[in-house]
Amino acid sequence: MSALTTRAYNPATDERWAEALLADTLGGRWQARRGEVLDALGLPGIVAVHQSERLGLVTYQVNGADCELFAIALARRHAGVGTLLLDALQACVAGCRRIWLVTTNDNLDALRFYQRRGFQLAALRPGAVADARRRLKPGIPAVGAYDIPLRDELELELLVTTR
Ligand SMILES: CC(C)(COP(=O)(O)OP(=O)(O)OC[C@H]1O[C@@H](n2cnc3c(N)ncnc32)[C@H](O)[C@@H]1OP(=O)(O)O)[C@@H](O)C(=O)NCCC(=O)NCCS
Repeated sequence: MSALTTRAYNPATDERWAEALLADTLGGRWQARRGEVLDALGLPGIVAVHQSERLGLVTYQVNGADCELFAIALARRHAGVGTLLLDALQACVAGCRRIWLVTTNDNLDALRFYQRRGFQLAALRPGAVADARRRLKPGIPAVGAYDIPLRDELELELLVTTR
């Protein structure tokens, strides 16, 4: 896709759009992982833009040398937007030695996407999503992508060795 660019997320002008995007794609701005619920839009982010249309968002948080890719949501998939946002994130947090994220057992597209881009599996928490559904976010569906029961958290990491 031509003229696809990125810029920093600006809550003043992007929040309404981002909230709707997260509601459509990830069940809302509040995301549960590792036993806690966080606001994806309370974090810094990067927006993908094609001409004047916003096509995707990644939000993240940096803690020392670690960067958590907290949420990524796209208005259009399989068009290179995810790759662009991941590249932009890596450039933005160039001082970090590790980028990590949590996904879920049903998210085969994400598991494929990240492993194709150098991420490795780092942790498995069996039953963590089911537990979050019980304790933290009852709206988490019981069945996820590809009709797979939504139960477990998987952690992936990209170790950056050449900086
Ligand atoms: C995981 C996710 C972020 C990937 O984003 P994406 O924009 O679809 O990814 P890309 O388009 O960059 O690449 C995915 C595939 O699309 C295809 N693709 C990319 N650009 C393309 C283009 N211009 N034309 C045709 N196909 C294209 C490629 O097959 C590519 O896979 P490969 O390069 O590994 O072979 C996306 O699936 C997603 O948003 N999922 C839902 C939300 C989610 O799961 N978030 C992550 C939770 S951790």
